[in-house]
Amino acid sequence: MTESLHTPTASATPVIAVRGLTARYGDTQALHGVDIEVHRGELVCLTGRNGAGKTTIMRSLMGLVERTGSVTFDGTETVGRPPEAIARLGMAYCPEERGIFSSLSVEENLMLPPVLFPGGMTVDEIYRLFPNLESRRRSQGTRLSGGEQQMLAIARILRTGARTLLLDEPTEGLAPVIVKRIGSVIAMLKSQGYTVLLVEQNFRFAANLADRFYVIEEGRVCAAVSREEVAADPASIERHLGI
Ligand SMILES: Nc1ncnc2c1ncn2[C@@H]1O[C@H](COP(=O)(O)OP(=O)(O)OP(=O)(O)O)[C@@H](O)[C@H]1O
Ligand SMILES: [Mg+2]
Repeated sequence: MTESLHTPTASATPVIAVRGLTARYGDTQALHGVDIEVHRGELVCLTGRNGAGKTTIMRSLMGLVERTGSVTFDGTETVGRPPEAIARLGMAYCPEERGIFSSLSVEENLMLPPVLFPGGMTVDEIYRLFPNLESRRRSQGTRLSGGEQQMLAIARILRTGARTLLLDEPTEGLAPVIVKRIGSVIAMLKSQGYTVLLVEQNFRFAANLADRFYVIEEGRVCAAVSREEVAADPASIERHLGI
């Protein structure tokens, strides 16, 4: 892997710098020395087969799994810190399973995470971004469609003021029209300067959004691919995956 792929702006400190990250679930080692960098304002995509370790990388970044190595956020070492301390640094996680509380209404779910920094979106701004959440504001979490749950899961972290977002498979299982809507929201967040680490298996969706890609295989980064490489050769990621 060449350094130039890692560091588009070589002088700047990365927002997220992962070095030699290992993670385990009990006796099972899921990550075997992962190196990743994400710079301010970048949208970086992790892709790879089922079980490759993409979610585990995100869980490790948030301190939700046993890990070793180094993960710095804005230069601060986070390995050894508990999840709530890491979240307070300004990194927000939208998990694959979305984590919507079924007994709470849309608005109660929205208000649940604490506001950590000034400058987060207001509830009105969130409803402008996701008009269908406003019309369902009193609905129970269980009554929402998969697309509405995903929108609520993203909306919820935007209120906190965190400027670095970890989004795990936000389009999984959703209809094309909803995928498109989520794509435009992510593009808007990038244009507003948010830093985004996105797990995505839908290459066509990710190719339009991501600045760079890391291909994950068996708990390792097996390739780093730039947006330009993907544009010039749309099959390059599939080749790295051996598809
Ligand atoms: N809670 C757990 N306990 C034990 N092993 C786990 C657990 N969660 C994940 N694993 C294992 O860790 C490895 C990586 O899983 P992970 O969920 O990170 O993959 P992934 O790339 O996100 O896959 P997917 O595309 O299916 O979401 C897999 O071998 C998986 O079986
Ligand atoms: Mg996963």
